[in-house]
Amino acid sequence: MNVLERTSPHFTAGPWDNGTFGVQTWLERTPWRTLRGSQYGCQPDIAPPSELVWEDPLLNQIYKLDIATFLTAEKVSVDGISRMVSLAPDEASRVFMATQALDEARHFEVFSRRMADFGVTPAERHGLMQRVTTPQMRQFYDLIGEQVDRGDYVAALIAHNVILEGMAYPVYRYEIKYWSRLDAGLAQMIQGAFADEVHHVSYGEAYVRSLLQGDVALRNRVDGLLRDFERLMTGVFEAVIDHYIGLYQAAANAHLPLMGDIMIFPGRRMAELSEEDQVRLLLKEVRDEHTQRLATLGIRR
Ligand SMILES: [Fe+2]
Ligand SMILES: [Fe+2]
Repeated sequence: MNVLERTSPHFTAGPWDNGTFGVQTWLERTPWRTLRGSQYGCQPDIAPPSELVWEDPLLNQIYKLDIATFLTAEKVSVDGISRMVSLAPDEASRVFMATQALDEARHFEVFSRRMADFGVTPAERHGLMQRVTTPQMRQFYDLIGEQVDRGDYVAALIAHNVILEGMAYPVYRYEIKYWSRLDAGLAQMIQGAFADEVHHVSYGEAYVRSLLQGDVALRNRVDGLLRDFERLMTGVFEAVIDHYIGLYQAAANAHLPLMGDIMIFPGRRMAELSEEDQVRLLLKEVRDEHTQRLATLGIRR
């Protein structure tokens, strides 16, 4: 009796391909599982946001600034990844990039929807997105865009799926906890985006690692690019501390009874940490994860 050869490869790919980066896997892990039954990234029966998010002007402002910041990164992702679909050098990568482009478009839509839910028009949203983009962040996003502009797939992949998405990890983890008591729906939306970013990073790591193996010249080139990004990453966090930390501190102080016992960082209650300490701890997490990622890629072991 003849049987279907389900395990033989159906795309051109490299040794990085473990068969989990296609559309079938995407359907199974995203629409059929993480997002099943969701509307704009959260379950329809989720609790509505706390009245405080509408009524406390400071909290309302921070809520919108945070979502605007996510949107700046998601926009960079939609723009870059959609262009990378046509840059991808093999079929399996091209198909993966197409699924990722849809993920990023969904993240962009979900957060834009939340802004509209709070009465922010698209024009006002654009204004907020510009306002939260510090010069340091602009530089960081520009360096990402340059890699795609040059049509250099590996460099663009490192910029997007290793650096930017790797940074989203700890930041989204932080934000999920920060907003958990005030808006469980937003926390769920971020959780859904986070799950996608994890998958995007795993492709980025697998692809880059297999390409770097035995290629010293490429490894040196990649190392130089990574150092540029590392410098800019620190600048982005320093700028957030300078520009926004006062706002965040005031909002947190006003709601300590509600939020004070949340532990964003293991064993450290929010009430015991200043906002600046939190941003510095977050930067440390971003750096630690980045260092781990470099080891996974086989760089600077
Ligand atoms: Fe995203
Ligand atoms: Fe992503």
